[in-house]
Amino acid sequence: MSPTLNDVWYSNPRAREWTAAPSSRSVAAFHQSLNNYAPTPLIEVPSIASELSVGRVFVKDESSRLDLSAFKILGASWAVARALTDGDTPTSLAQVASGINREAPPTLIAATDGNHGRAVAHMAKLLDLECFIVIPRGVSDQAIDNVCGEGAGVEVIDGTYDDAVLRARDITHSITTSIHVQDMSWPGYEDIPQWIIDGYATMCVEVDQQLLDMGSAPVDLVAVPVGVGSFLHSVVSHYRGNALSRPVVLSIEPTAAACVLASLQHEELTSVDTGVTIMSGMNCGTPSSDSWPVHRAGVDAAIAISDDDTRAALATLHDLDIDAGPCGAATLAGVRSALQVPGSRFDMGLTQNSVVVLLSTEGRAANPFS
Ligand SMILES: Cc1ncc(COP(=O)(O)O)c(C=O)c1O
Repeated sequence: MSPTLNDVWYSNPRAREWTAAPSSRSVAAFHQSLNNYAPTPLIEVPSIASELSVGRVFVKDESSRLDLSAFKILGASWAVARALTDGDTPTSLAQVASGINREAPPTLIAATDGNHGRAVAHMAKLLDLECFIVIPRGVSDQAIDNVCGEGAGVEVIDGTYDDAVLRARDITHSITTSIHVQDMSWPGYEDIPQWIIDGYATMCVEVDQQLLDMGSAPVDLVAVPVGVGSFLHSVVSHYRGNALSRPVVLSIEPTAAACVLASLQHEELTSVDTGVTIMSGMNCGTPSSDSWPVHRAGVDAAIAISDDDTRAALATLHDLDIDAGPCGAATLAGVRSALQVPGSRFDMGLTQNSVVVLLSTEGRAANPFS
């Protein structure tokens, strides 16, 4: 039996009252020091605003972030920089590079659905380090080639994303000087995932400034694509911390892997069996353990969407000349689906004047689904 809209919807009216610890300003400064750093475009789409009956809609287009085709480098760069400087707050890549012990250089290890691994491999290349990436089944050849193209060694396993994380952990334990740079936490492995979450914050800092520069009111609804929920954690922390506004945060997952939705509905961290989806970056079965309490307290609404919903959103965005891959277009699909749920417009506080931001986290080059 296929799920009803109510099965795939969650809302928490108390979430906007929750307050997170203020985030650090040093991350944005570090990103600004990187070669080719520029804020990614925030594109206004009036036709989507009319369709959704809201005031203004903007797409944050991450298809060209720091020479890669997805946002993940924001987290990987900051986490690698902090890990290589023993948790210090570096201000430039040159400072990070100068601190590396070249007698016993570390190997960077990660598991990935594509984008995170490519970002870690890119950092290894910039810092002249070895890198090894584990990839689960179901990731496109293009995404695998993207990781190999950064010079990393790659192992593709016949298992899920969770299996790939375990394999990366084992490899890390077998190499003395290695560092596991994973974008999810588990008990006892928390520092690096937290630095990754801190790194993602640069995107929201840019959005807030761009809205101001474009004469817009602050954001009222921000739509976030979710895998293990580290990025969601970052967005919630930003908008429940020291940001100018407290928008509704909408979590969006594929029905094939809606582990954060299941956790919110069951009020406890819940793993799900994952299936097949074109949104491969979001195909994760277990929420990140340190992020889950932040989801529970600060996520206003959550929805799961089908691949067909995302295909329709991809078509809309491509017609508008916006370079979105499946995880990027998932946010438009998610808002569209959420608005089908009776009472959801009220739950999300949306009016004819609301400002909506869709975080489009990858371009087509990251994941040419087909
Ligand atoms: C393009 C893209 N968007 C969204 C996500 C979800 O991020 P998280 O796993 O932190 O929830 C990922 C994860 O890899 C991704 O690659």
